[in-house]
Amino acid sequence: MKTSQHFARLTTVLLCSALFSVAHAEDTAAKLPNVVILATGGTIAGTGATSTTTIGYSAAKLGVDKMIEGVPELKKAANVRGEQVAQIASESMTNEVWLKLAKRVNELLAQKDVDGVVITHGTDTIEETAYFLDLTVKSKKPVVVVGAMRPSTAISADGPINLYNAVLLAGSKDAAGKGVLVALNDQINAGRDVSKVNTSTTDTFKSPDLGFLGFMQDNKPHFYRQPVRKHTADTEFDVSKLEALPQVDIVYGYANMNRVALDANVAAGAKGIVQAGVGDGSMAAQMLPAFREARQKGVIVVRSSRVGAGIVARNGEVNDDKEDFVVSDTLNAQKARILLMLSLTKTSDTKKIQQMFYTY
Ligand code: SIN
Repeated sequence: MKTSQHFARLTTVLLCSALFSVAHAEDTAAKLPNVVILATGGTIAGTGATSTTTIGYSAAKLGVDKMIEGVPELKKAANVRGEQVAQIASESMTNEVWLKLAKRVNELLAQKDVDGVVITHGTDTIEETAYFLDLTVKSKKPVVVVGAMRPSTAISADGPINLYNAVLLAGSKDAAGKGVLVALNDQINAGRDVSKVNTSTTDTFKSPDLGFLGFMQDNKPHFYRQPVRKHTADTEFDVSKLEALPQVDIVYGYANMNRVALDANVAAGAKGIVQAGVGDGSMAAQMLPAFREARQKGVIVVRSSRVGAGIVARNGEVNDDKEDFVVSDTLNAQKARILLMLSLTKTSDTKKIQQMFYTY
């Protein structure tokens, strides 16, 4: 065979193989779900001075594109693209960022070509953001909030595997209709129930008493239960036109407690106060008159508990009917604050607000 014929044949073979690869890649991409990653910062985007720095590192340093680049396996899980919504450590999370996030999640999930959303977030307030979104996202499509306990530069950083699992979960039809999920450490929790229970270990997320919804294993979710409280598309809350949320503060209960913090919050214009009371949301004898006065000024008082698990019983430790107080049911104080803020966008009727605490 002449050299020119050989060259022509080789060129044809290479061209066909290139066309086949492009067609194959397009076919694979078409079969994968489309997942958008909204980044907000946190340790998952954090960097430390050395690979053994797991305390004293800087959170919220890596941008979303770098995070995605750092986990090439994501390409096998979904067609992924990222947006940077915020770049903060989550102790600095604000109502404003929540509103921005909820609006963006709703815009994205309304699009036919978006199958799910992942939110990367600091772990300190992940449970609050997840519950806020659980009440305000208007879609049954999967929304997964994910973080990491070790910065991206650490040996055995947990961010990459957590992000990979979160993308798989957000692209899975099994995760649809289960409310906003929090997935770390191969465990899937409901946004309503999950809480951070350890300051530093990677297995810090639990749903006290109620348990995980399921696990991530072998590149797929395995679900064993689902939330029964109303969430996402089934809630009455609409943040689409909201620019701010009513001021609601938390007053922590402790021995020898005084009314200074409560009075200061009321004087500063709080529309609602959540008491993180001792035990079953009990109120110290010297505090009951102070909460009563707050209520008489129109402030909504919600009794929750600092214990971290269990129901706060209505008319148990306090006569809530007489005082016109609300109980938080099983919500901890930080989650009760979120539901109270959203409730106050609809009503200031305590009977209706109490019903919301038994519904969501
Ligand atoms: C944060 O919440 O942003 C810092 C801690 C963490 O992400 O684990």
